[in-house]
Amino acid sequence: MTSQVLNTVLAHQKINEKFCFLMLKIVHTVEDLRAEVKGWRNSRETVGLVPTMGALHEGHLSLVRLSRARAMRTCVTLFVNPKQFGMNEDLKIYPRDEENDISKLTHEGVDLLFKPSIDVMYPPSFTTSVSIDGLGNILEGKARPGFFDGVATVVTKLLMQSLPDFAFFGEKDFQQLMVVKQLTRDLDIPVRVVAAPTIRDEDGLALSSRNTYLNLNERKIAPILHGTISQVAEQVSRGADLSDQIAWGGEQLLKAGFSSVDYLTIRDIETFEEVQDNTRPARVLAAAMLGQARLIDNVLI
Ligand code: PAJ
Repeated sequence: MTSQVLNTVLAHQKINEKFCFLMLKIVHTVEDLRAEVKGWRNSRETVGLVPTMGALHEGHLSLVRLSRARAMRTCVTLFVNPKQFGMNEDLKIYPRDEENDISKLTHEGVDLLFKPSIDVMYPPSFTTSVSIDGLGNILEGKARPGFFDGVATVVTKLLMQSLPDFAFFGEKDFQQLMVVKQLTRDLDIPVRVVAAPTIRDEDGLALSSRNTYLNLNERKIAPILHGTISQVAEQVSRGADLSDQIAWGGEQLLKAGFSSVDYLTIRDIETFEEVQDNTRPARVLAAAMLGQARLIDNVLI
């Protein structure tokens, strides 16, 4: 390549980068969000929605990439939803890094960022709550009362505000994914919910914005959660007794340094009922406390 051609290529790259930067539009109100989506709809473009609470990592970005591959336009939402945090939970210290989030989304070629204030989402007159019976009250819902009402309420709002063709959710929060599928079915919300596989660090720890709560020693212990449920899954798939494996897994976590285990359970992937044997597709799901961090993870058997 001659230096003149090289310079031209580099100049184009720079323009592209600059252009790319200009492409991420940020809106703060439902009216502006709807106006953007309407523009796309008028051009017959499909829309993907990626709801997040920010502090974006590769897990979030994998959803963005899926959306970019599947839909013609991608809208990411960034809203730390107070309704899904309990009284004694980490709302005040939840990690926030908007500047980095915006630069990551820009780099990924996201079309629109919807970043509403609390008042836009929940004006003082707001009184509605979306609640999922059964599924919303077990496991995560039992350990964190009100959590799934908060999630279901905000996700319903985000879907109604943007009316996307696709909405992307991570399998990392498997029960949340099931809750979202349930509410879209029950409320006839015309959206295809797409599940994305869990993105992990090299040592197996599922990426999570809350991993920043771990100190160095805890960070070394944390991958044992994934290691343990993977071993349980492996043993069950080889025919081991389920309740023995569940007991063994819980003991392993406590021995490793987790201070408590909220649950370690094996559930049917369709009905989410506890399974008694290895005859139907199932997942091992667990939640355990490590220092200040509550870690959750799950694997398919
Ligand atoms: P947040 O924890 O920010 O996660 C946003 C989305 O990213 C969720 O669908 C979650 O399952 C997915 N995700 C997180 N970590 C992941 C990983 N390691 N691999 C793959 N996907 C991952 O989940 C929420 O926010 C909120 O509850 C929300 C749905 C936005 C409602 O407020």
